[in-house]
Amino acid sequence: MKVLNVYLSLTGNTKKIALQIEKAAKANGHDVDTIEVTKDIDKDTLNFLSYDFVFVGSGVYLWLPPQDMIDLWKSLQMKYVKSGDIKSYAPRRINKKAVTYCTYAGPHTGINEATSVPKFLGQLLDHLGFEIITEWFFEGQFNSKDSFYTQFNTKGRMGDITGRPNEDDLIRVDNMVKGILQV
Ligand SMILES: Cc1cc2nc3c(=O)[nH]c(=O)nc-3n(C[C@H](O)[C@H](O)[C@H](O)COP(=O)(O)O)c2cc1C
Repeated sequence: MKVLNVYLSLTGNTKKIALQIEKAAKANGHDVDTIEVTKDIDKDTLNFLSYDFVFVGSGVYLWLPPQDMIDLWKSLQMKYVKSGDIKSYAPRRINKKAVTYCTYAGPHTGINEATSVPKFLGQLLDHLGFEIITEWFFEGQFNSKDSFYTQFNTKGRMGDITGRPNEDDLIRVDNMVKGILQV
């Protein structure tokens, strides 16, 4: 399959997951294009419809994806509406599937403060007719020098998330990707 692997990672946590997704998908014989979203990304580099399978992920910032991801998704939505690829009633496309995910710290309300992110990321693809087959959540420590944030690595609702995502998380990613892409 042709696989698109898109991510935005402000402090490196989601990048670890995305690179493991790339590794696992390639090891299973798929063609993978990995694209990191940046502020200046040309939206035309993300041509979802030329892929069979899409992974999209980001960190969680005040319950939402980072603003650059939100802005990009909005401009892509406009682009696909204008091109006629987003149609009313969003008909399904055969063999177009996606997984959305986030890395999050969940210090106050646990996974509840992260659930909007894979949902938000999935809507553009759902509008395009992709089937969102699942949403993944990975713990990601606060990578900050500010103790206001780092206290949450041990004092939050997720327990001690220091060092996450760690090697065990990456093994988990490997197995999840294999499980989803193996035919
Ligand atoms: C300013 C800031 C705000 C954050 N807000 C949230 C939040 O609302 N909910 C949450 O679960 N994690 C929050 N986090 C933790 C990050 O989502 C987590 O560390 C994530 O793994 C970062 O991913 P990235 O390095 O790929 O951007 C926040 C982190 C920072 C630095």
